[in-house]
Amino acid sequence: MFDLTGKVALITGASSGIGKSSAIALATQGSKVVLAARRIDKLNALVDELKSLGREAIAVQMDVTKKDQIAAAVAKTVETFGRLDILLNNAGVAEFVPFLDMTEEQWDKTIDTNLKGYFFVAQLAAREMAKHNWGRIVNIASIASGGVGVGFPSIAHYCASKGGVIAMTEALAIELAPMGILVNCIGPGVIETEMTQDLLKDPKQAEGLLARAPLKRAGKPEEIAAGVVFLSSQEAGYTTGATLYIDGGWLAN
Ligand SMILES: NC(=O)c1ccc[n+]([C@@H]2O[C@H](COP(=O)([O-])OP(=O)(O)OC[C@H]3O[C@@H](n4cnc5c(N)ncnc54)[C@H](OP(=O)(O)O)[C@@H]3O)[C@@H](O)[C@H]2O)c1
Repeated sequence: MFDLTGKVALITGASSGIGKSSAIALATQGSKVVLAARRIDKLNALVDELKSLGREAIAVQMDVTKKDQIAAAVAKTVETFGRLDILLNNAGVAEFVPFLDMTEEQWDKTIDTNLKGYFFVAQLAAREMAKHNWGRIVNIASIASGGVGVGFPSIAHYCASKGGVIAMTEALAIELAPMGILVNCIGPGVIETEMTQDLLKDPKQAEGLLARAPLKRAGKPEEIAAGVVFLSSQEAGYTTGATLYIDGGWLAN
């Protein structure tokens, strides 16, 4: 099960955290992987690690807020590996700012990265997938996405972006189904990555954050990567427009 031999996957935000773990997991299942982010040194190190394991990988420097860089990354993918089958839309930022103090620049940076970036990477990737009538797009959302009973203070722009990602996923699932492209979301709870490291280091903040998760711990990026592999696989063939919450039970509580 979950054999991805012959598939080509583009992973945004592959330089750390969930993106890095997912790239390793997709490559382990046999996919060729294209690692995209701004920190090219980290991507190159991961390429070396994957090649030492006998996997095929390349790194492309890409800022998801720049459409020309997205186009160049997709072109490089097709030039190198001949096709694009799987997209993990994962690159994201989370900046804590009280709503009353939030600037237009802070709003724009978050929306441009977490929502507009996802939109255009998906559009350019889907055009390639449509050529083969097969594709998988996995968008990383969050439990902080609205509609599920979880609001978070001081990240209103982040919550808006993640709610937008789920709405966009449902719209694309309908529009891309006739092209054989499945579009799903993962909604992580609190996961141990660079994004949460400062919060989790502070025992008081960590306790508050994890209080609602019955498993009483933060998740590991590998535990999100497992969902990414499933949603990228042939076996996920009847799953589209869904949001898979991997949150230690947070939303059940
Ligand atoms: N950790 C959590 O608790 C949690 C919970 C729910 C959802 N998420 C979501 O999971 C995703 C991954 O986050 P993470 O937790 O793994 O945090 P992370 O380790 O900070 O990873 C964020 C990634 O996004 C990339 N990135 C940021 N801005 C970018 C841009 N403009 N262009 C290209 N890449 C960019 C970063 O790479 P460069 O800096 O090298 O560009 C980095 O690889 C995000 O969408 C986040 O919102 C995380």
